[in-house]
Amino acid sequence: MESNSPIIAAPSLLAADFTMLAAELQKVETAGGDWLHLDVMDGHFVPNLTFGPPIIQALRPKTAKFFDVHLMVERPADLLDAYIDAGADAVTFHWEADTHHHRTVQRIHDHGKKAGIAFVPSTPVSALEAILPYVDIVLVMSINPGFGGQKYLPESTKRIAHLVQLRSELGAHFQISVDGGVNSQTMFEIAEAGADILVTGSAFFGSSDPKSYIHSIKGLRKFP
Ligand code: DX5
Ligand code: ZN
Repeated sequence: MESNSPIIAAPSLLAADFTMLAAELQKVETAGGDWLHLDVMDGHFVPNLTFGPPIIQALRPKTAKFFDVHLMVERPADLLDAYIDAGADAVTFHWEADTHHHRTVQRIHDHGKKAGIAFVPSTPVSALEAILPYVDIVLVMSINPGFGGQKYLPESTKRIAHLVQLRSELGAHFQISVDGGVNSQTMFEIAEAGADILVTGSAFFGSSDPKSYIHSIKGLRKFP
């Protein structure tokens, strides 16, 4: 990635009002969000349950936004086809939930979709090294996944910088996405460390001025 390319703002639907998803989607459109981040939880990999393919499929014709599907599920390889058929543009699965990472990435690519690998705060960045040259997105969990509205873990900033370094050493091309506790206070250090994509749930849907909030994310420069 070019170090001066604009940051991608990815509002997470997890913090939306689930009784009015179409209106919440419109909020993302009006505010100028780039991607729609869709958090799928299975109640096993994480202690929470959200939505599955039918909701994503229902949302698909309502917007042209890029669907950034984050699978927080066990055995993600068993579920890929369902999420791709429902309308995912990128499928990100957890390093901790799968063993055959290269095969899973290849299967996502065979469908012509972007493949992402996510990892939780207890997994060292170095554990991902073998898969890094093959993925399009690396999702740094800056909280323990499962719930929105948690506080950004400050050590995540070093993990982002470590990924930037590894990307250059390996000659890899993935985008670095950061998920958890992104808000008006934390966005600066996250961008400065080298993040390409900022996922934001509660700070976006809880904002009194979502348009300005998104504008401030998109205006961040990684290395000003
Ligand atoms: C949590 C999800 C996040 C969540 C972030 O496990 O992966 O995408 O929506 O929420 P905030 O932005 O509120 O921390
Ligand atoms: Zn997420």
